[in-house]
Amino acid sequence: MTAPQIESDVADLSLAPDGVKRTEWAEREMPVLRLIREQFRRDRPLEGQRLAACLHVTSETANLAITLKAGGADVRLCASNPLSTQDDVAAALVAEYGIPVFAVKGEDTDTYYRHLNQALDHRPTMTMDDGADLVAAVHGNRTDLVADIRGGTEETTTGVIRLRSLAQQGKLLYPIIAVNDADTKHLFDNRYGTGQSTLDGITRATNILWAGKTVVIVGYGWCGRGVALRARGMGAQVVVCEIDPVRGLEALMDGNRVMPLSEAAPIGDIFITVTGDIHAIGRSHLELIKDGAVVANSGHFDVEIDIPALQEMSAGEDRKPNVRSVRPFVEEYSLKDGRKLFLLGEGRLINLAAAEGHPSAVMDLSFADQALAARYLAGPDGDSLTKDVHILPHELDEDVARLKLQSMGISIDTPTAEQIAYLQSWEMGT
Ligand code: ADE
Repeated sequence: MTAPQIESDVADLSLAPDGVKRTEWAEREMPVLRLIREQFRRDRPLEGQRLAACLHVTSETANLAITLKAGGADVRLCASNPLSTQDDVAAALVAEYGIPVFAVKGEDTDTYYRHLNQALDHRPTMTMDDGADLVAAVHGNRTDLVADIRGGTEETTTGVIRLRSLAQQGKLLYPIIAVNDADTKHLFDNRYGTGQSTLDGITRATNILWAGKTVVIVGYGWCGRGVALRARGMGAQVVVCEIDPVRGLEALMDGNRVMPLSEAAPIGDIFITVTGDIHAIGRSHLELIKDGAVVANSGHFDVEIDIPALQEMSAGEDRKPNVRSVRPFVEEYSLKDGRKLFLLGEGRLINLAAAEGHPSAVMDLSFADQALAARYLAGPDGDSLTKDVHILPHELDEDVARLKLQSMGISIDTPTAEQIAYLQSWEMGT
């Protein structure tokens, strides 16, 4: 392999051949993105765009980056989480696909932000975020970049919430497409992707048997719904904790038990946070959780479990937490009252920390949406977008769903002219 001429910071370039194989394996399950890549190669809709992307550096993201490059974009990639980078894929992107990457699995917080700034250093015309850290940096100490930026896209619920709050305060400096809000994104990625990959991460980290366990799921958004669905399918007794009465009711009627976390804490074997909020499992809950329980987070940031409280509750005379690593991604906290609690993946999103994130087949939808959002921003529609958070036009959602169905060999019905007329009329009743 020849040494790359491009700027990058990855763990080990010699891992590139494995990364290529992994990327090609993912590509097999991403037919919609493959089709978009062919169109992009022909039409070059992103010609002239410099695109800074802050995404989990996985084999699926590699396929997206390759697609964006095929469309003419000059892409740079940094990680959207310190623990989610697949080092072989990062190496492959640099050495084989010529895409600058700044990401090393396990990087510390300073390195994480240095990498993020390196991705911004090529003065992007577009940002692509998973959690809004690029936008936050641009709106913080990199406002000099705003003049060049046409717009950005956002992949995840947490990021969209941050960006809507920025927009509501009138402070958003460029338009954003909330890719997360496309139906073909959150109904599939958040639900079936998070559902499967969260159980996968916890299983790989612990090798627990799910059947017969009491699994407490904190949060019943699309991610929580998916995790509950899959945990029930594995034979677990599922308890859902919510703060929203409609979601609480839905969780109940979906067949889960619903109760406050203070009641669930003493009975749960495995706790999973998917709320997007801080300290969903706080000190008062940690006080009540039974000895031997496993606590994991699958929400975007590592704030959902009050880890500082856990550290304090285990600290000895020397004020150091009484914690040891018992397996990769499993830390045993020995609390002063004698209980042991097991924290997975340092409270970071467990599906990407201990497993490989969502399966490629579901990321096919999310990243098809991302690619189409980038094309939309780069094209004439992007010229007139206000500095607000926008959704993808529904026709694009339908195109992605149609292509996915086709790729799976599934066809659906078309309405008759009579049916279309009926739905468009108000005159016809019984
Ligand atoms: N988010 C969740 N799973 C992912 C994956 N496999 N690749 C990129 N981002 C993800």
